Amino acid sequence: MNPHMYYCLLTYQRTFKYHITRRKISKYLHKDISAKNIRQSFLDYFLKRQDHVFIRSSPVVPFCDPTVPFVNAGMNQFKGIFLGNQIPHFTKVANSQKCIRVGGKHNDLNVVGKDGYHHTFFEMLGNWSFGEYFKEDACKMAWELLTQVYKIPPTKLYVTYFSGDDKLGLKSDLETKEIWKNLGINEKRILPYGTKDNFWEMGVTGPCGPCTEIHYDHLGTTNRSEFVNRGLYDLTEIWNLVFIQYNRLSDGSIVPLPKSHVDTGLGLERLCCALQGTLSTYDTDLFDYLIKAIEKNCINVPKYSGHFGEQDWNDLDASYRILADHVRMLTVCLADGVVPEQNQKLRRIIRKCLVLSQTVFGNERGLIKELTNYVVENLGDVYPEMERNISLVHQILDYEEEVYRAIHNEAKKEWTKFALNHPNLPNIDSIDITPSFIKAFKELHLNKVEEIDENLAYKLYDTHGFDAEGIQTLAQLLNIKFNEETFTKKMDQIKLKSKSNREILVADQPIGLPPTDDSDKYCYSKTSGQYNFPETHCQVIQILADGALVLDKTNLYSESGGQQSDTGTIKFENGATFFVHQLENVRNTIIHKGNLSSGTVKPGLKGSITINQQRRLGAMRNHTCAHLLNAAIKKIKSATCQKSSKVTDKFVNLDVSVFGPKLNVEDVVKVEEIVNGVIADKAEVRVSTTDSQGLYSLDNVTLIPGEVYPDREIRLVEVEGCGTSFVSREPCCGTHVLNTGDLEDFCVVSLKSLGRSSTSLHGVTGDRAKLARKNAEELAEDLALFKASVQEYLDKPEVLEMGILSLKKRLNYEVTDDLILPYAYKQGVIEELNDISRQIKDKSNEDLRNFVIMEMQDALKNKVELTKSQKKFMVHYLRSSMMFESVPLQRATTLCSDMPVIVIAYSDSIVKARCCVPQEFQTEDFDAEKWLREAVASVFESKTTSQKVQNGVLVSNMKGKKVHVQEWHRLLEESINSAKKYINEKL
Ligand code: SER
Repeated sequence: MNPHMYYCLLTYQRTFKYHITRRKISKYLHKDISAKNIRQSFLDYFLKRQDHVFIRSSPVVPFCDPTVPFVNAGMNQFKGIFLGNQIPHFTKVANSQKCIRVGGKHNDLNVVGKDGYHHTFFEMLGNWSFGEYFKEDACKMAWELLTQVYKIPPTKLYVTYFSGDDKLGLKSDLETKEIWKNLGINEKRILPYGTKDNFWEMGVTGPCGPCTEIHYDHLGTTNRSEFVNRGLYDLTEIWNLVFIQYNRLSDGSIVPLPKSHVDTGLGLERLCCALQGTLSTYDTDLFDYLIKAIEKNCINVPKYSGHFGEQDWNDLDASYRILADHVRMLTVCLADGVVPEQNQKLRRIIRKCLVLSQTVFGNERGLIKELTNYVVENLGDVYPEMERNISLVHQILDYEEEVYRAIHNEAKKEWTKFALNHPNLPNIDSIDITPSFIKAFKELHLNKVEEIDENLAYKLYDTHGFDAEGIQTLAQLLNIKFNEETFTKKMDQIKLKSKSNREILVADQPIGLPPTDDSDKYCYSKTSGQYNFPETHCQVIQILADGALVLDKTNLYSESGGQQSDTGTIKFENGATFFVHQLENVRNTIIHKGNLSSGTVKPGLKGSITINQQRRLGAMRNHTCAHLLNAAIKKIKSATCQKSSKVTDKFVNLDVSVFGPKLNVEDVVKVEEIVNGVIADKAEVRVSTTDSQGLYSLDNVTLIPGEVYPDREIRLVEVEGCGTSFVSREPCCGTHVLNTGDLEDFCVVSLKSLGRSSTSLHGVTGDRAKLARKNAEELAEDLALFKASVQEYLDKPEVLEMGILSLKKRLNYEVTDDLILPYAYKQGVIEELNDISRQIKDKSNEDLRNFVIMEMQDALKNKVELTKSQKKFMVHYLRSSMMFESVPLQRATTLCSDMPVIVIAYSDSIVKARCCVPQEFQTEDFDAEKWLREAVASVFESKTTSQKVQNGVLVSNMKGKKVHVQEWHRLLEESINSAKKYINEKL
């Protein structure tokens, strides 16, 4: 067909067919071809009839694979098995996997909404054989399921196979062609395609292999094999059977894998389209409830009409689709613990939804959150983590919406202002308008930059936080050049340089040295309540230039996972002693730095290492405490994420983001209660080793977002509270106590805010916690004594202030020193002391106010003057005002309510004035406002405000104005004279 006809056909189908098929769904649903049933039939077929084992969906961000940002296929969690690094727990498995395609090799983000079958989130039904069945069985089962179970007529199906690749040195997969033929498929429906369509790869590197795809023809009336793989929405691929046989390396070559595997992926959304008789996935029951929910929540917006392309003239239907797609995606991500703080892609998608919600759907607040409820209702029973974490989803969305509005409202105002002065600016998606965007845009625009080279790009990254995608957006908007490749290269170089800089810090890099066996760091036991850390026998391998030692074995822990390094002593067989102060791990070779106190050492010398036990035990307590603390915070504030942690023998420090109200003193008290409860439980701290398959099968595993874990030999540290719902389960390479009882006691000693959402907590355990409590008791006694003396000394504020100061000094400590206090107690003391300060201040203010009254009474006796027309008035400078922080001018003027009066005050270099004029003195030419403004405020170059008070007295106040003390006397005199002159003239 020529391209023009093809286009006409597409337009025709877009205009009419979609509309027609929307109505079919209810007709099909009563036959129980709901998505739920379709999904279940798939699993039943493989689990019950084909003896596969169910493996649940992994979270959507892989935690042991840095090569892909999101899980983009069902096979991701099995990568280690395919590569031969892991032994499979089962050899035939099936599941329904949550997949996200928003970046990297498989990226559908930009087409979402434009058609009816691409999504950022979709469910992939899959079956896998790890070295068991291969091509023939995989094809047979797929064909049987589609044609016998789902009863799809073979006339609606096409299959494709790999036609070979000379560059890769791979032949055409005729074996698969034969298999399909033998299954009775018409040869005209078995089609060969090249690498682009029929060689599947997970990412730039990783497992890959030829594949055979099954395509579904929605029309199915004639043979339309020439339209396969042509991007027709009514003839789409539904199932991909991959024969994983190779590994793509980073140099681009492929190498065979030890075993051949089957990896299949059947897109649930598209299968639902096929079985429910719709052409768009948005018309299936996986989406239509969500479209209806948007309609229900946005009643002022026209309903969804299922149009595409030109028919969707105002993009409203596309907006419905984008919103529905993105809401599913973000619900799944947030429920899986992906946090927008750490995942810019997710944050952008959330923001896109917020923009759509506001601009297209006219919904000011909370629409996205509301829609997530519908998603969880639809998918929550398949993916229980979604139900479990719904409050987390809500909390993060509330937080993101707040932050977005705060940032964007300001930024939008600034942008509008900028745009006013710079006509011809490009149209900018409001999602992009952030403060850093504006800064960067202005910089590039005003400097007339023509190209963003790698150095400028790096500057944009470094100063404004732009990633390659953000820079690309800027470049497109400004119509300037940007080469992403050179930028990525520069970034790689910088990363490499900073890595090697770190390594250069280590004297004489031990290139080529064998790794040090440090497994003995985990060898310790407890007998009769005492921890024993046995010595480790070692041999010197090399002595580095600075005298640091490389040994064959060590029991010393070198800093990792936030836990500090051990110190220790090595006693050598020749009597030499080496004190280890510091350890460095360079590519698994551990360098022992320190000093030789006696004797000499040389390679080959044997010795034994003793750990500094007190330091190690302190670190072990605090490391276990870090886990308990993390779990406790999560328990009270579901939406949290650990940003970093540090464990020393003296304290544990946890920096944590809380999405929602920040941690406060009440939270600290609750957290302490939870942790101390688990300590009192004397719960066992279980350490086991697992692999990624084991980890994926567990609930409530605490992972640090962005951290990449190994895919095997993962040490899992678990604590369960007795009879409570407390669970802490974290992969961790640190050393821990064997029982929570060994922590003895815990308290938080410091809580500091780190920006918008993060808080830094320091906690202590064991003797340090006891010390903090002892300090608190002592302070409490002293505070009680002080409080008892407050009333007695209220007349001597300087004595009380000294007392407050000395008590406050005791609240000022470093977390490592001996003055530590429980944070909650400290906050209580601060409040009590502030209370006493207030009492002192109130008392002295009262005294001063009385002073004012006395001064005014005196002035009334001596300073009242008469105008030429014999009218009483007074203009007075309130001398006592010098003693005040805030001047009680009102109190001063109320004493002279029967005559026009101006009182001027001066305190802390600020002049203020108040003027009152009773009604009977007011004329057209004279009132309080006029008198004060024209005679006094004009002298001080200030302004006045006026108000009427009781009995028609007009009161005017002069706004405080800073006056330098050197000017003060001159201006005061001038203002007094001017006030007197004025009243004399006007009255
Ligand atoms: N990995 C293949 C795909 O994603 C089959 O599951 O298409």
